[in-house]
Amino acid sequence: MNLFRIKSVEQSMADTEEPEHRLKKELSAWDLTVFGIGVIIGTGIFVLTGQQAHVNAGPAIALSFVVAGIACALAALCYAEFASTVPVAGSAYTFSYATLGELVAWIIGWDLVLELALGAAVVARGWSGYLASLFGLPTWLAGDAARPDFAAMAIVLALTVVAVLGTKLSGRLTGVLVVVKVAVVLFVIVAGLFYIKVANYQPFIPPSVPAPATESGVDQPLIQALFGLSPSQFGVFGILAAASVVFFAYIGFDIVATAAEETRNPKRDIPRGIIGSLLICTVLYMAVSIVITGMLNYKDPRMNTSAPLAEAFKANGVNWASSLISLGAVCGLTTVVLVLMLGQNRVLFAMSRDGLLPTKLAAVHPKFGTPYVVSIGTGVFVAILAGVVPLGELSKLVSIGTLFAFVLVSAGVIILRRTRPDLERSFRVPWVPWVPILSILACVWLMLNLSEATWLRFIVWLILGFVIYFTYGHSHSRLKTGIGNLEKAPDEQETPSP
Ligand code: ALA
Repeated sequence: MNLFRIKSVEQSMADTEEPEHRLKKELSAWDLTVFGIGVIIGTGIFVLTGQQAHVNAGPAIALSFVVAGIACALAALCYAEFASTVPVAGSAYTFSYATLGELVAWIIGWDLVLELALGAAVVARGWSGYLASLFGLPTWLAGDAARPDFAAMAIVLALTVVAVLGTKLSGRLTGVLVVVKVAVVLFVIVAGLFYIKVANYQPFIPPSVPAPATESGVDQPLIQALFGLSPSQFGVFGILAAASVVFFAYIGFDIVATAAEETRNPKRDIPRGIIGSLLICTVLYMAVSIVITGMLNYKDPRMNTSAPLAEAFKANGVNWASSLISLGAVCGLTTVVLVLMLGQNRVLFAMSRDGLLPTKLAAVHPKFGTPYVVSIGTGVFVAILAGVVPLGELSKLVSIGTLFAFVLVSAGVIILRRTRPDLERSFRVPWVPWVPILSILACVWLMLNLSEATWLRFIVWLILGFVIYFTYGHSHSRLKTGIGNLEKAPDEQETPSP
């Protein structure tokens, strides 16, 4: 049983040219950057900033954003190198297939469901919450603990239609909504400056205090359980704990790589899209967190609500701003859901094209040029998750799933440099292997700061993935059946005689 068979980079590239599996190439570096910003700015900045300042970091939440941003920047460099070398839909899944072998590739594809489909469902639920606060929706529509969230289901299904109709259309819609979202974020930064009270920054790093007794057992960070540390809040460890939570705010730059096959000049534009969108968002995040903690003291309980940005303005008597911020959030979260689902579709498309899932799923619509079968499947799945599944604690699986993918992609860069030094890399990570190793360490550190319960759920999810691989994927893989593969491996191909 060959669990570590590798799909050559040449084979991956050849598959993208098959007429029945060919996606339209219509995206530019600008489209990709907009996609990136579209998916990155969302619940994280609109909700988690205030909450984490209140419970973990105080005004030093801005430093938590720096820590999470550094971890992401290291991983982003690795993604950029891979995507510029193997511009094929599927991102971390495709990269792993070319380096770590089929079993790891399958596991990473399975793991990405946590980032993409579960992430889309979590954000869709947040979307309906903001819509309800904007228009006062009744609970029969926006759901509550006992009722389905029809509004979340409706937005997911509507965005599914957009995804099927065309990637360019999705790009245009994202473009318009991103303008509104970024405008609102800039508004928060600029208008908020006038309400900053310097006293709110003191102390900038509040001294460490013991955490309330509620954070014990499986809810405490794994690292505390492993080293027998007593749970604490604030101080340097508080900044680090907050970093692993606000990491969620950065999720998405990696999804730019899933659009590689639909990009006109992927080798040049994917690195630009990934790094550009991450950079812009990091600057905006730091600015928002500095302004918000200056406007409202981190100890104020209004920081720990579902709309802390709006609360900070209300606390300063600017009530109208809260509706504006809710509007920004509704627009902003719409694009997050859309791009997460587009990413999920591309990964499932690549996996089905490889035979690890039924190949019929990889059909491309003859007119729209989109993978419509997987898109509809993803849409229905995400709608059910967003509408009826209690997502509270499950939402933390989104971060652990994403970090795991970052770890494997970073390891993959080191491996591919050794196994295929000959490949053309239009973007190269500097100081290999040190930068990828640092990226791995930073991501593992953030993972260790997630709770034991999250780790347990994650392991259960991976075990389920193994079972599916051994009952289906292993025997149906195109690498095994050989259907549609290159006649010969590239290194076996004869060189033409002069
Ligand atoms: N980064 C995205 C958000 O914060 C997932 O909503």
